[in-house]
Amino acid sequence: MKILLTGGAGFMGSNMIHYLLATYQDVEVVNFDDLTYAGNLESLTDIAQDPRYTFVKGNIVDPLAVEEAIAGVDVVINYAAETHVDRSILEPRAFIDTNVYGVYNILEAVRKHKIHRYIQISTDEVFGAVLEGESDEQSKFEPRSPYSASKAAGDHLCAAYAITYGVPVIVTHSCNFYGPYQFPEKLIPLFTMNLLEGKKVPVYGDGQQVREWIFTQDHCRAVDTIMRKGNPGEVYNIGTGYRVPNMEVVKQLLDLTDRGEEAIEYVTDRPGHDRRYAVNSNKLRTELGWEPQVSFEEGLAKTVEWYKNNPDWVNRCRTGEYQEYYQKQYG
Ligand code: DAU
Repeated sequence: MKILLTGGAGFMGSNMIHYLLATYQDVEVVNFDDLTYAGNLESLTDIAQDPRYTFVKGNIVDPLAVEEAIAGVDVVINYAAETHVDRSILEPRAFIDTNVYGVYNILEAVRKHKIHRYIQISTDEVFGAVLEGESDEQSKFEPRSPYSASKAAGDHLCAAYAITYGVPVIVTHSCNFYGPYQFPEKLIPLFTMNLLEGKKVPVYGDGQQVREWIFTQDHCRAVDTIMRKGNPGEVYNIGTGYRVPNMEVVKQLLDLTDRGEEAIEYVTDRPGHDRRYAVNSNKLRTELGWEPQVSFEEGLAKTVEWYKNNPDWVNRCRTGEYQEYYQKQYG
């Protein structure tokens, strides 16, 4: 099976490439990535020489490059996306380009080349804040940030292409993922590095916002299950049910890094901050037989250990662009 995996130099994409090559002997993976700020080929050094792996530098906003890369593949998995909510609040433009226009380009190429399967990786944030209960696959889209609005627009296009043209696309809505190789702007890698370096951690608002967490390996297994057993035109939520306020994550990170509560700094809240997310993942579990295997405690301990052992990888992410973003975001 030949898979075009877009955004393979990013956190989730690179984890999926490792997973696919380790799990299947007869797989070929083409990593199509433009190496924008969060893309890092160093995450793939160990498999760079594998004959089943090829890297193509390209951006999904470029329709010709997408078409060229797609010809002859069996499956497309789109991990290429602008993903960071705070950046979307500062500068939304790139989110519309990549998450809407980029998805349109992939859909068109999939349609034209009659690709067998297209998996669009999306987010539970399209459902907006879920103050109580859970969002299931039928819940209404109520995105509240430029990021989630752009992902919702891409998902709507996928649904429309499935209905109108019969494009065999499947959309996933995942909860928050974490693990090794995550760019140090999201809560877990940012806070881990700050704590390991003796700095403070910037908690937005009261820190009581609730997120649901999934370890990267469990997410890879979920996407693989959906790719093999999912029905075209369908949507699957991916979640673990492990939902906690951010302060609980911070508390566990303090323990794992031997830091005390004086490391916490409460800062101005994110504008429009979604108070709670909770996805119902029963469909994936009952219809396709997937279950998460890694507890949050185990996944978080592995993650912190990895960051302890890989400060050079993190430092190479912190380019001038990162410093500029950090300054704008945290002052
Ligand atoms: O729910 C899935 C989504 O999870 C993905 O679609 C997004 O791409 C991903 O970025 C993530 O969105 P969040 O906004 O939930 O992730 P983030 O790591 O930015 O923040 C997690 C929580 O921690 C959120 O409530 C905001 C809070 N936070 C985050 C940062 C970066 C802080 O309190 N301080 C911070 O400095």
